[in-house]
Amino acid sequence: MEHIGFVGLGVMGQPMALNLLRAGYALTVYNRTAARAAPLAQAGASVAVSPRAVAAVCRIVCVNVADDAAVEAVLFGAEGLAPALRADDVVIDLGTTSPAATRAHARRLAQQGVNLIDAPVSGGEAGARAGTLSIMAGGPKAAFERVLPLLKVLGSNVVHVGEANGSGQVAKACNQIAVSATLLGVAEALTFARRQGVDAAQVRAALLGGFAYSRILEVHGERMLTRAFAPGFRARLHQKDLGLVLAEAQALGLPLPVTALAAQLMHALNAMGGAEQDSSAVVQVVETLAGLDPRPNSPTNPL
Ligand SMILES: NC(=O)c1ccc[n+]([C@@H]2O[C@H](COP(=O)([O-])OP(=O)(O)OC[C@H]3O[C@@H](n4cnc5c(N)ncnc54)[C@H](OP(=O)(O)O)[C@@H]3O)[C@@H](O)[C@H]2O)c1
Repeated sequence: MEHIGFVGLGVMGQPMALNLLRAGYALTVYNRTAARAAPLAQAGASVAVSPRAVAAVCRIVCVNVADDAAVEAVLFGAEGLAPALRADDVVIDLGTTSPAATRAHARRLAQQGVNLIDAPVSGGEAGARAGTLSIMAGGPKAAFERVLPLLKVLGSNVVHVGEANGSGQVAKACNQIAVSATLLGVAEALTFARRQGVDAAQVRAALLGGFAYSRILEVHGERMLTRAFAPGFRARLHQKDLGLVLAEAQALGLPLPVTALAAQLMHALNAMGGAEQDSSAVVQVVETLAGLDPRPNSPTNPL
């Protein structure tokens, strides 16, 4: 099996890298904050001192970092991957970044014969741990097929959206449009139940069997009820994703009124100090707007 590089061992990157190791791939990893690489080292991965040191030994490198600026730094910054990459190498960007930046990164890498596959994911930390992510890929078909066995370790639904780089990121933007609307719908439904004095947990249990069922109601609805706001998906990353969607929509002159509202409420959560919480904590914004005290176990908001 090929020797794989993995840069970015956060909430998502760490379990994904562990799954590659368990599947039998030799792995060399790097994370900016070195301590986060320790579980990988314990599991048998080699730890490199920089992204460039990863590219020196791996012909396929996965990158899973926060945003456009982080991908730029990992690819082209000091000690970045690019100078050590060779023709026909493949870089897989598993994070959620803008389609425009993805296209620009792909063009720069193509100048040295390197292929970029943008392969953002959906399914959250649980999907990353279980290897059941949905993966939406963009980029040249031959490069996609070369890395498909690896992607199938990480996800159970791997779709090549298109040969144009950025196609995967467009699909991920669509995912975030639908997810954000559902997240807010669940937050409003549970707040409505609570304001009516009806047990919101029982309401969720009832809704799970009907047309309102969604994975968001199941996972994030549970988080909202139990106040389990440790990330998960950090609110600042959700805010980043909605910013990416709205910037693309602005460039197209495309109205996305529901997404725009979701972005404003996510801004509010961040402004209220929730940036590092799971984005399901947006229920606290809805509760605050309703005059409810969002703190757990408060008299006006029994949980
Ligand atoms: N969490 C989810 O449920 C989820 C689901 C789907 C997609 N995503 C996407 O997946 C990506 C990673 O998310 P996550 O939840 O794993 O985030 P996270 O836990 O915050 O980890 C972010 C990673 O990016 C690295 N990083 C940030 N800035 C960097 C820079 N300038 N140079 C090098 N490395 C840098 C961090 O390194 P340090 O450890 O040094 O900070 C860390 O490894 C994001 O694009 C996110 O939108 C997340």
